Parts: sequence; C-alpha cells; structure tokens
Amino acid sequence: MTSKHVDGGFITFEGIDGSGKSTQARLLADHLRSQGYDVVLTREPGGSVGAEEIRALVLEGDPDRWSAETEILLFTAARRDHLERTILPALAAGKIVICDRFADSTRMYQGLSRGDLRGIVDQLHELMIGREPDLTVLIDMDPAEGLSRAKSRQTAEERFEDFGQALQDQMRAGFLALSREYADRFCVISGTGTLEEVAARVTSTVQDHLS
Ligand code: TYD
Repeated sequence: MTSKHVDGGFITFEGIDGSGKSTQARLLADHLRSQGYDVVLTREPGGSVGAEEIRALVLEGDPDRWSAETEILLFTAARRDHLERTILPALAAGKIVICDRFADSTRMYQGLSRGDLRGIVDQLHELMIGREPDLTVLIDMDPAEGLSRAKSRQTAEERFEDFGQALQDQMRAGFLALSREYADRFCVISGTGTLEEVAARVTSTVQDHLS
C-alpha cells in the first residue's frame, strides 16, 4: 500500500512538563499510521544523532552549567541539526512530522524562565530556523497536576522540572499567551480526562487540519 502524500504536515506538541503531550504525540502517530499516513515521530531537544547529543548536554548535570544565553544557542543548534537532517527531508517526501516540542518551548523556557530573553530567542530563530509548524497542539493542563506527574517519573533529565510550581504556572500562562500570538497555527486542547478522551480531541483537531 502506498502512503498518502501530505502538504503542511508539520505538527508540533507543546505544553508544560507532565501535560501528557508525549503520550498524545505517540497516540496520534499510531492513529495516523493506521489511516495510511507515513509518519515521522520525533522530539526536541533531539530527533537527530547530533541533537540527541546536545540533549544530554542541556538536560543533564548541574542546572547552572550554562548561562541563559549559551543555553539558547545549544537548543537552537540542536534544532537546526534536527531540521536539516530529520524534519525537512521527511516533509519534502510528503510525510507527516509529529514533533514533541519545538521552537515554542524555547520561546517559553529560555525566553521566560531566566529573565526576559524572548527577543534573543526570536532573533536567533529567524536567523537559524525560520520555520514554524503548520499546526501546534497545545495540551493545556493544571500546573499542580502536571508537576506531580512529571516528578513521579524520576529521570536524570530534571533540568527544568526542578523549578517547581511557580515556573509551571508561568509556563502555562506563557503557552496560552503564545497560542493567541500565533492563533493561526495553535490549537489548545484540554489535557484533563483519560488518555483516550484527550486523544479523541487531538485526533479530531488534526483530521480537521489535514482535510
Ligand atoms: P521533554 O522531553 O519534552 O520533557 P517532558 O516530557 O517532561 O515535557 O523536554 C525536556 C525538557 O526540555 C523540558 O523540561 C522542557 C525543556 N526544553 C527547553 O527548555 N527548551 C526547548 O527548546 C525544548 C525543546 C525543551
């Protein structure tokens, strides 16, 4: 069976830590594959060999390892490699690319959490990335609930999860503001309810976008 060719198939998932977006991204990929689409499921930071190496540099180890500015450069370097080697080739081949986090995460985490650096994030994005998703699914979640889910996972990658409730609150508000700023591509989906309930909301939004 030949798979369906798609234009405008660059879909990203965003949300605070513990929002369930990674699970939802995977469920969406499974669903679309079952519909005959060729899907590349990927994530940031990471998604290419080089970018996965940068992922370890930014998410593990001493949280004060990098200055805020260096961190922006590292996330952007990872994204550039990911874009060149994974995302753009897949889109050019007519595949759907589902990416767990993308530039909106940098706008939020690096742009807001350690001072107002949004201007630098945007300038660097324009210079080095210059590409926005066709559709961004924001899984909106109560920060307290998200934090307790994220904490229960206990991974070595606790770089941002350790900032706690205040940052989670700020990130949620920031993502909602971003969804208004980029209203043409954002879709806000409630992350409350069972996995299946959230997945059904995501699927119907994405089907609308694709058709
Ligand atoms: P992720 O693996 O999506 O973690 P989670 O599933 O807990 O959301 O992302 C790892 C962390 O990286 C997350 O805390 C957010 C952070 N991050 C940034 O700070 N900037 C970025 O540009 C990206 C892509 C992620």
